[in-house]
Amino acid sequence: MTSRSAIVTGASGGIGTAIATALHEEGFALTLVGRDAAKLAALAETLTGTGGAAVDWLAGSLADETFLDEITARHTARHGALDLLVNNAGVSGHRRVGEITAEFLDAQFDVNIRAVILLTDKCLGLLRKAVALRGSAQVVNTASNAGKRGEATLASYSATKAAVVGFTEALHDELAAEGIKATAICPGLVDTPMADAYRSGGAAAQGMITPRDVAETVRLTTRLSRACIVPEVVLLRPNEWVQPSEVR
Ligand SMILES: NC(=O)c1ccc[n+]([C@@H]2O[C@H](COP(=O)([O-])OP(=O)(O)OC[C@H]3O[C@@H](n4cnc5c(N)ncnc54)[C@H](OP(=O)(O)O)[C@@H]3O)[C@@H](O)[C@H]2O)c1
Repeated sequence: MTSRSAIVTGASGGIGTAIATALHEEGFALTLVGRDAAKLAALAETLTGTGGAAVDWLAGSLADETFLDEITARHTARHGALDLLVNNAGVSGHRRVGEITAEFLDAQFDVNIRAVILLTDKCLGLLRKAVALRGSAQVVNTASNAGKRGEATLASYSATKAAVVGFTEALHDELAAEGIKATAICPGLVDTPMADAYRSGGAAAQGMITPRDVAETVRLTTRLSRACIVPEVVLLRPNEWVQPSEVR
């Protein structure tokens, strides 16, 4: 039997690199996606150097629909089916309401939700082929804690991530019965470059969730039986979602 295969977007960054590494350990052949060709090539070389399934990569912007078609076409040519689509790439940025421009908004919506919906749509045929071959397939979307509880200065980012949660729920409703599982992962602060703005405050002292923590969560979902679906996972640090002391 051929290897299971996965597409991982944002594989050139902290969480995506960790997810790709865990999936390769699980035996998945990979198509790595991001913009930074050097980082993708280096990761592909590292993973390939450990042996195991094939690793391919493609550099481009997920905001560009023709790039989404390229990803699907490349994965189809190499694997003919897709067992796991990981929509992980994301763009953040802090602005208060009153300072949000269309350009700021578009940069986040294009990658965080438009590309997630479009790439999933374009991969549906490949996911169905994996179901026909192996009984099930999966879509894992990296949302955020901010998609469960919107955060000040992250209004637009929170809105994109709430949309990812809603999209994932709809996927479950529409596709679970035919064997395509959908999971939204909603982490709090994770120790990647995206969390740099928080490094000098309490977050640094408390510690952050690690990219590996998120990757292990994805790994878990790949090991479950066909009948067992994990629709959503929220990962929090100790002080996240805790009310201020004057409210408690
Ligand atoms: N770090 C956190 O605290 C945290 C918490 C909750 C959720 N998340 C979510 O976790 C996911 C991964 O983020 P991270 O923390 O690992 O951040 P990161 O290190 O900044 O990685 C972001 C990834 O997204 C890719 N990306 C961004 N814009 C892209 C575009 N237009 N086209 C293609 N790829 C693009 C980047 O690729 P290039 O570098 O190659 O451009 C990079 O691989 C995101 O969806 C983020 O919203 C992060």
